[in-house]
Amino acid sequence: MQFDDQADIYDKRTGLGEKTAQKIAATVNQMIKPYLKGQFLEIGAGTGEIGYFLQDLPIPYIGIDLSNGMLEIYRQRFKEQKNRPRLIQMDGNAIWPLQNGSVSVFFSSRAMHQLDHEHVLNQLKKLAVPTSSLLILGNVKRSKISTKTIMRKEMHSLLNNFGLKEKSGQSNRNLLFDALEKQGGERLPSITASRWLVSHAPIDSIESWKNVDGIAGQAIDQKLKTKILDSLILRAKEKFTDLHLAMETEETYELNAIKLPYN
Ligand SMILES: C[S@@+](CC[C@H](N)C(=O)[O-])C[C@H]1O[C@@H](n2cnc3c(N)ncnc32)[C@H](O)[C@@H]1O
Repeated sequence: MQFDDQADIYDKRTGLGEKTAQKIAATVNQMIKPYLKGQFLEIGAGTGEIGYFLQDLPIPYIGIDLSNGMLEIYRQRFKEQKNRPRLIQMDGNAIWPLQNGSVSVFFSSRAMHQLDHEHVLNQLKKLAVPTSSLLILGNVKRSKISTKTIMRKEMHSLLNNFGLKEKSGQSNRNLLFDALEKQGGERLPSITASRWLVSHAPIDSIESWKNVDGIAGQAIDQKLKTKILDSLILRAKEKFTDLHLAMETEETYELNAIKLPYN
């Protein structure tokens, strides 16, 4: 499985860093103050970079993730500690194993787009504390003109050309939030939990895709991957004068939340 194979290098490759993770947890802490009646469920908890700090929230925590490799890194963070988070290895596209009406905060960082959105809507409805519950989705936002964004856009278009569809976090969030709003959910203003500068060259994107199994969230055949990457290099050479020239841009971590509509 793709995330199992990259678990060891995940934090180094796409990790947010301790400071950012801490800021995200602190912001989540503020957001959930009116929603402490039930449990906190993290979907796609990964290596627990954020989850490590979510354990300090005043609400019982449960994390689920498909990848045992990712969860193993999460467990390692607590190996010296008595209190360990409740972590369940499971496919989020299966029934979430919690009591009906018991969850007051659903949280997912950079993972919800991996799940079928109708299934997510069903699970939210079943598990949410009916009187007051919140869904929070976290993601990294990049400037439209950043090297990473341009490279991702080119990759997205190439994947389409090769008949592969890339799952997008933003379009998934819109689908989910739109459906919940139609049912009476109430969107809260988006909050920037953290901002930082990154220096990134086109070659960094190419190397990063080369060094993981699959591509842009998909498991694909190695020959096809080489073909896609070769085409990407050609396109990058047309867009950028020097593939090794890094550009510095700001990235932010955004938290988008919606009050669930089930009361
Ligand atoms: C990009 S990582 C994000 C990890 C973490 N939430 C973060 O922001 O650092 C996506 C996570 O979603 C998990 N995932 C992917 N498909 C899943 C599924 N069907 N059910 C549960 N988790 C899934 C992966 O194993 C991985 O840990």
